[in-house]
Amino acid sequence: MSSEDRRLQMLERIMREHGYDKSALLEILHMAHELYGYFDKNLLNYISSRLNLPPSHVYGVASFYNLFKFRRPGEHVISACMGTACYVKGVEEIVSAIEREFNIKRGGSSPDGRISLFITRCIGACAMAPNITIDGEVIGRATKEAVLERIRKVLGGGVVEAR
Ligand code: FES
Repeated sequence: MSSEDRRLQMLERIMREHGYDKSALLEILHMAHELYGYFDKNLLNYISSRLNLPPSHVYGVASFYNLFKFRRPGEHVISACMGTACYVKGVEEIVSAIEREFNIKRGGSSPDGRISLFITRCIGACAMAPNITIDGEVIGRATKEAVLERIRKVLGGGVVEAR
């Protein structure tokens, strides 16, 4: 399954869990943003059709909050949960290791645009803390070594180069 399909599947699950409830729009937008790292027209249109809301309304809510990005992030999106359980279980150490190894800052992309690193709130999998999501795939009970290895693999062994 491609990372795109995985993300779409997770988004669909999240909307289903909210019963496709219009009043859960903001929560769903947050989760969609955490999955994709940004919004584009197709994604917002998709959410509007699933929640049966006018696209202009969904776009209006999304653009009201300046924490949402509308620019495409790196090719691969890594999200680190910084909720309490994940924080206590040492996610900060993993995030710092990712920043060092891939020349990246949280909230940004690597100089060559291949990966982006985002911080999220609790993703609801505290029992598996610390959780790191790579292209929509959650790595639970994550260790620094396992996460770095997975990212290297996702990058195809390629080195992240400066532009
Ligand atoms: S705090 Fe990370 S999953 Fe809940």
